[in-house]
Amino acid sequence: MFRYFTAGESHGPGLTGILEGAPAGLQLSEDFIEQHLVRRQKGYGRGGRMAFEKDRAIIQSGVRFGKTTGAPIALSMINRAFEKDDSNWPKVMAKDGERGDVERITLPRPGHADLVGVQKYRFDDIRPVIERSSARETAMRVACCSITRAFLKELGIEIGGHVIQIGSVGYKGWDEVRSIADPLFSKGAETIYKEADKSDVRCLHSELSAEMREEIKLRRKEGTSLGGIYEIVVTGLPAGLGSYVHWDRKIDGQLAQAILSTQAMKGVEIGLGFEAGRSRGHEVHDEITYDGHFSRRTNRAGGIEGGMTTGMPVILRGVMKPIPTMIKPLRTADLETKKEQETRYERSDVCALPRAVVVAESVIAPVIANAILEKFGGDSMEEIKSRFKQNDR
Ligand SMILES: Cc1cc2nc3c(=O)[nH]c(=O)nc-3n(C[C@H](O)[C@H](O)[C@H](O)COP(=O)(O)O)c2cc1C
Repeated sequence: MFRYFTAGESHGPGLTGILEGAPAGLQLSEDFIEQHLVRRQKGYGRGGRMAFEKDRAIIQSGVRFGKTTGAPIALSMINRAFEKDDSNWPKVMAKDGERGDVERITLPRPGHADLVGVQKYRFDDIRPVIERSSARETAMRVACCSITRAFLKELGIEIGGHVIQIGSVGYKGWDEVRSIADPLFSKGAETIYKEADKSDVRCLHSELSAEMREEIKLRRKEGTSLGGIYEIVVTGLPAGLGSYVHWDRKIDGQLAQAILSTQAMKGVEIGLGFEAGRSRGHEVHDEITYDGHFSRRTNRAGGIEGGMTTGMPVILRGVMKPIPTMIKPLRTADLETKKEQETRYERSDVCALPRAVVVAESVIAPVIANAILEKFGGDSMEEIKSRFKQNDR
């Protein structure tokens, strides 16, 4: 089974990742990983802070002549900010020596891990909390998970995401999204992300894209920030991944955990999701059809029933809260003086949703890949592929 770890701080020398459990014989290159890293860096609503951080993961182990060996795959990625000649970060993030004149950060930022982080770990400086809770870590998550995406792709399983709401601008409802997205993923879900990537807000609807851009511009001017909602689609899945027999084997629960463990994600919907709660039963449940094989007339369940994939595309949505760092300050209280005052602004994204879609596409990949390995098993791609092909349901 795939497992992965990430380590590293936002302004330390770099990020490290280890992906364990990859079968032997999977085609893999640094260029393949880079394409998703580059996608994660692009999107309207970014602040300038990260402009110089062009990410590339270096494969340190587990790959030989372009194919995985079955051994753990170690990845490393440098933080360019740390390496710059005039950088103060080597001093701020020094792993030994004394603090010296390095400033302590004592003003916790609402909406970040800052205050609870220092309370929990008993720091008198918020810096270590900022460094590790930062979404910079998602770069390594994308890198590790992109290997599981490569694994899925070899089996014909594709993942693609797109933005459906930014602030007050979005599709009218489920049916409108379906009318635009569904024709695209009949060719595989990667078509969705490839089309969505043509828009700098990653929205498939060109008029909505323009409105979303305007919304971001407007809220940037107001000094505030935005979140939104995205949809991720997975195609090529067999029926029966996950299980109904035990709570921790239900694939919808596992997918939700992967999304909610990502910075700033506050909710997940499967299929119709919350809209199901406002609808009648006949507007929700998908009728079963038989035309040589079993299928569903509609896919409002989002491809999952009873904790298992139905064989229809998985459709899930995630909601991201607005970025907590904003030009217009919020009130906070200093750790040391205990005095209430305004937050200090540091350059930040206004809306990171278009970029977060790539993270969400990535983090669900190991969940799906593990469900495949659980059902079909195997130590090499050759073995897994032949078992996968024999599946006739
Ligand atoms: C891709 C991505 C980029 C982000 N960029 C920023 C940012 O530039 N500034 C910021 O304040 N928060 C940013 N965030 C959000 C914070 O990481 C997040 O609000 C914080 O970790 C707390 O979230 P939580 O309460 O869900 O743990 C970003 C999140 C993601 C997923």
